[in-house]
Amino acid sequence: MSHSFPLIATDVVQWQASHGRNHLPWQQTRDPYRVWLSEIMLQQTQVTTVLGYYDRFLQQFPDVASLAAAPEDDVMALWSGLGYYSRARNLHKCAKAVVAEHGGAFPQTAEVLATLPGIGRSTAAAIASFCFGERAAILDANVKRVLTRVLAYGEDLSSSRNEKMLWEVAEALLPTQDLHSTMPRYTQGLMDLGATVCLPRTPSCLVCPLQLKCRAAQQGNPQNYPVKTRKTKRSSQAWWLLVLRDAAGHVCLQRRPSSGGETGIWAGLFSPPVYASAQALEDGLAALNVTAMAREDWPAQLHVLTHRDLFLHPVVVDVAGVQPALGQGEQGWRWQSGADWPQLGLPAPVRKLLESL
Ligand code: ADE
Ligand code: SF4
Repeated sequence: MSHSFPLIATDVVQWQASHGRNHLPWQQTRDPYRVWLSEIMLQQTQVTTVLGYYDRFLQQFPDVASLAAAPEDDVMALWSGLGYYSRARNLHKCAKAVVAEHGGAFPQTAEVLATLPGIGRSTAAAIASFCFGERAAILDANVKRVLTRVLAYGEDLSSSRNEKMLWEVAEALLPTQDLHSTMPRYTQGLMDLGATVCLPRTPSCLVCPLQLKCRAAQQGNPQNYPVKTRKTKRSSQAWWLLVLRDAAGHVCLQRRPSSGGETGIWAGLFSPPVYASAQALEDGLAALNVTAMAREDWPAQLHVLTHRDLFLHPVVVDVAGVQPALGQGEQGWRWQSGADWPQLGLPAPVRKLLESL
């Protein structure tokens, strides 16, 4: 790549003001708590989904002190359905760290923000630029796409050396004037371009404010960027869920372990007991002290995650009696009624499953 590159800050800032998203709830504040919360929610979740959670979360936890003081179960319950629950656990840890180590006020620089749990370099820069006008570069997947295209940066981003170079260019491209007003717009503008114009497969170059400066558009090959050879391979996994239902409609739920190195996707949440194979479920069921009255094997449900496809196989078993004792190894299992579900941290697919029983 040549050492000169097109200057885009002014174009991005002006375009953001007239064509970007400016009415999202987290854009109406410079309170780092509210901005931080939005950035964590938006990391792996669409804006439209986040809108349904953000206000509710803030109503229950209006500031970092109230979040830090909350029991983890309450935080997980509010996060229930948003997915990627390590975000919620880190969110809680981060709130506690802000209270314990920073006197209850978020640090005001990207560098220090990035030392907190769950806040990576790009998220730290987003918070610092939105709240404090700091001249700090973001580089999430959307922004990588926009910048590699504008620059026709064809080096392989699987190599950390090349990624580091892109970070340096991202920093060099930042606005230089009037940072308190330009930095929030520039940061939001890059996000908006990536989300609404410079799309992965079908970039709308004709309406893009960077079209005349964009090297990939000039070459006619935006889809060739970014280059990433070492793709994280998708894996697939199958889980069998034993859905025990008693005569009164209670369902047996188990809290998935959240400590002891457990990093499973549902760690800390409630779910019907999970088995790794159909046979393991049969063995588990046979070992229980229950009388099965009826059984229904449901079709597999696909749950798509970032790096894997999870196939859920629910097996619904109606058992005799009301809240019957289950057996030796099942102390952690609890009979729960439909009235209990809203207060529990339930993964979205489990909630859906229970609601369709
Ligand atoms: N994705 C990540 N941060 C965002 C923001 N501030 N607005 C919209 N989408 C985002
Ligand atoms: Fe992306 Fe096209 Fe804009 Fe270039 S001109 S940044 S490829 S949308």
